[in-house]
Amino acid sequence: MQSILVTGGLGYIGSITITELYKAIGKYYKIIILDNLSNSNIQVLDTITSIIGEKLDLYIVDIQNQTELKEVFKKYKETNPINYIIHFAALKAVGESVENPIKYYQNNVVGTLNLLNCAEEYKCQNFLFSSSATVYAPGEFVDEEAPFKPSNPYGETKVVIEYLIRSLSKKGGRYLCLRYFNPVGATKDGKLGEMPNKPNNLFPYIEQVAIGNLQQLYVFGNDYNTHDGTGIRDYIHILDLAEAHVVALQELIKRDEKKENYYDYFNIGTGKGFSVLDIVNEYSKLVPIKYQITDKRAGDVAILVANPNKTKEKLGWVAKRGLTEMCQDSYNFIKSKQ
Ligand SMILES: NC(=O)c1ccc[n+]([C@@H]2O[C@H](COP(=O)([O-])OP(=O)(O)OC[C@H]3O[C@@H](n4cnc5c(N)ncnc54)[C@H](O)[C@@H]3O)[C@@H](O)[C@H]2O)c1
Repeated sequence: MQSILVTGGLGYIGSITITELYKAIGKYYKIIILDNLSNSNIQVLDTITSIIGEKLDLYIVDIQNQTELKEVFKKYKETNPINYIIHFAALKAVGESVENPIKYYQNNVVGTLNLLNCAEEYKCQNFLFSSSATVYAPGEFVDEEAPFKPSNPYGETKVVIEYLIRSLSKKGGRYLCLRYFNPVGATKDGKLGEMPNKPNNLFPYIEQVAIGNLQQLYVFGNDYNTHDGTGIRDYIHILDLAEAHVVALQELIKRDEKKENYYDYFNIGTGKGFSVLDIVNEYSKLVPIKYQITDKRAGDVAILVANPNKTKEKLGWVAKRGLTEMCQDSYNFIKSKQ
């Protein structure tokens, strides 16, 4: 049996993707998790185990540590060689990346270089990369051919890695970059959702307000050129995003079995934009969300919404869930954690 290595697999997107992946192809592939717990905690493994009914192998390893990373590849070489990598591990706080670019380049770029180095040494040529909409300039209905124009160091790290992947793909192998827009929400049973060590994104903040841990939400800027002055984003339900990974990995598997070379990059979004206040209003149908307008944040942009057409045409994937479901599942999740 071959293995799929999931870096950052105890994080928000990684953990939920693992449960969906296990349901879809867990019978045929061994799933190995690697995480350094910098933005997650070990209990997530127990939750994954309770959902899928099997305890997966977990390595508490930092991808910046090439020696420890190699040990993981070596361990499985004879029995369950790592043939696929889904690479989620990264730091992702835009504001922090503006304050500390070196930390972001070090963790995200150097870490990915190490990982790709190990992959090359152990002949693993199937790589699925978590890229981001932050590689683009602001815009509506942005397609994949829009030029790279990141507004902050976090986005720059994704661009550098995408360039590296493009160059590597010319030597052969199968590489996919998925550019996520704004994943939100949680699993239906409320077991897995976003539980950052420090909330940075909109929904984790709103959740803390919803359960009374924070008094109010700070809305960063209300003079953007949008219908209500607050920033507009393309929010995507986390289960839709997890399903996109299953589809993308199956595409890699199909191409690998035929020994075809493959390289592509896809937007993973809904194509619909909502402002911060649209979200506050929708969420307030479930529980009142107090908010206060404050200064704009460095590195933020007015509007960023995906054109999802290429993903639909080439991967056959479309987002199915809407904003009401995103808010409901998010609230359900945070209530169950109280
Ligand atoms: N959540 C979003 O809004 C969003 C949007 C676009 C792209 N992405 C990308 O998706 C990926 C997953 O994001 P997420 O929301 O699940 O974030 P997350 O912080 O919940 O998960 C990332 C995981 O990677 C781990 N990690 C970080 N650095 C590591 C390192 N050096 N070695 C080993 N593990 C490390 C963290 O502990 C965490 O468990 C990231 O690459 C992120 O940049 C996220």
